[in-house]
Amino acid sequence: MKLHSPLCDLFDIEYPVVLAGMGSASTPELAAAVSNAGGLGVIGAAALQPETLREWIRRTRSLTDKPFGVDTLLPASVRRAAAQREPGDEAAERAQLEGHLAFARQFMAQENLEPVAESRRRGSGGLQVFSKEFFEAQMAVVIEERVPVYAAGLGNPGPWMKELHANGTRVLAVVGAVRHAAQVISVGIDAIVAQGHDAGGHNSPVGAMALIPQVVDAVGDTPVLGAGGIGDGRGVAAAMMLGAAGAWIGTAFLAAEESGIAPHQKQALVDGTEEGTVISKSVTGKPARIIRSKWTDAWERASISPLPMPYQGVVSGPVMAAANAAGRADINPGFAGQGMGMIARVRPAAEIFDEIVASAIESLEQARSLLD
Ligand SMILES: Cc1cc2nc3c(=O)[nH]c(=O)nc-3n(C[C@H](O)[C@H](O)[C@H](O)COP(=O)(O)O)c2cc1C
Repeated sequence: MKLHSPLCDLFDIEYPVVLAGMGSASTPELAAAVSNAGGLGVIGAAALQPETLREWIRRTRSLTDKPFGVDTLLPASVRRAAAQREPGDEAAERAQLEGHLAFARQFMAQENLEPVAESRRRGSGGLQVFSKEFFEAQMAVVIEERVPVYAAGLGNPGPWMKELHANGTRVLAVVGAVRHAAQVISVGIDAIVAQGHDAGGHNSPVGAMALIPQVVDAVGDTPVLGAGGIGDGRGVAAAMMLGAAGAWIGTAFLAAEESGIAPHQKQALVDGTEEGTVISKSVTGKPARIIRSKWTDAWERASISPLPMPYQGVVSGPVMAAANAAGRADINPGFAGQGMGMIARVRPAAEIFDEIVASAIESLEQARSLLD
C-alpha cells in the first residue's frame, strides 16, 4: 500500500509529508534527512542573514539530491510599517523600546542570567533582522539559488511569484484563515498550508479541525497541506480525511537528533504535555504558541504589553540567548505545538518520518474497514 496524493507529483516526492520550516530548528541536516526519507524537508530560514541562507541552501544540496524547500517570513505588518514610517519615528520607537529593555534587564538580573555578546546570538530577530530590506535580500538569495520549493511562513509572496516560477520553484504559503487563502490564490500560489490554532509558532485563532476543510473548500484544485497538532500518522490521515493533500509537520520533528534546537529544549519537549503551551506575544510580538515559561508568565503579569513585531524581538532576543547559553529550559524552552505530549524521546528524523508514514497508511486502512 502506498500513500500518494497530488502533492507528491507537485513536489516530486514519494510521500505527502512535509517538514515545516521552523526558524533555528529546521536545519539543513534535518531538512535533508526528511527529503532523503521520501518527504519534503524545508529549511527554517526566518532570521538567517542572506549569506548564511545561501550557505544553508548549499549545505542542504550537499546532503541530499532530493527536492527541498526554504521557508522565510514576509510579514505584511512590517512591510506596511516600513512604508508608513515618518522622519522622527525612530526616536519615539527607541524611547518606547528603552522601557521594555529595562524590564528585560530586570528579569535577567532576577534570574541571574549572564548577557551573551550580540555577535554570538543566533536568530534572535529584532530590528536588524526583520526589516523590509532584509526580506528582500533573503528573497534575492532564494531566487539566485533556484531552490525547488519556497514557503512564505507569513505574508504574501505575490511580488516574487514571477521570478520564482520562472526558475521552476514551487511556491507555498502558510495561512490561518480562508480570506488569506483567497489572497495567495489570486497571485498563483502552487499549494497552501492551512495552519490551525494547535500549531507551534505563529498560528491562527481557528483550530485545525475547522480550518482545514474550510480552506480546502475555498481553494478549488490547489493542494492544501493540513498543519497544527499533527503529531503522528493518525493526524496525517485525519488531515487527508478533511480534504488535505498532505501534512506540514513541525513539533513532531523538533525532538529529532538533527534539529537545531538546544539539548535542554529537546528535553523540555520530551517532558511536556498537551497542556504545556500558551499563546504569547512575549518573544516575537505576534501571538505564537510557545512552551509556557518564566518569561511568558512575566509578560502575562507585566503592566506593560509586548511591543509589535519586530520590536519585541529586540527585547526578548538577549534574554532568550542568555537563557539558552545557561541551559535554562524554565526560561527559554522554545516554541511548540499542542502535539508536544506525543513526543516520547529524541531520535533520528528518518525514524520519526517512517513511523508517521506507516501509521498514516494504517489509519487510512482502518478508516476504510469501518465501512464493511
Ligand atoms: C520551534 C518552531 C519554530 C517555528 N518557526 C517558524 C518559522 O520560522 N517560520 C514559519 O513559517 N513557521 C514557523 N513555525 C511554524 C511551523 O512552520 C508549522 O506551521 C507548525 O510547527 C505546525 O504545527 P505543529 O507544530 O503542531 O506541527 C515554527 C514552529 C515551531 C514549533
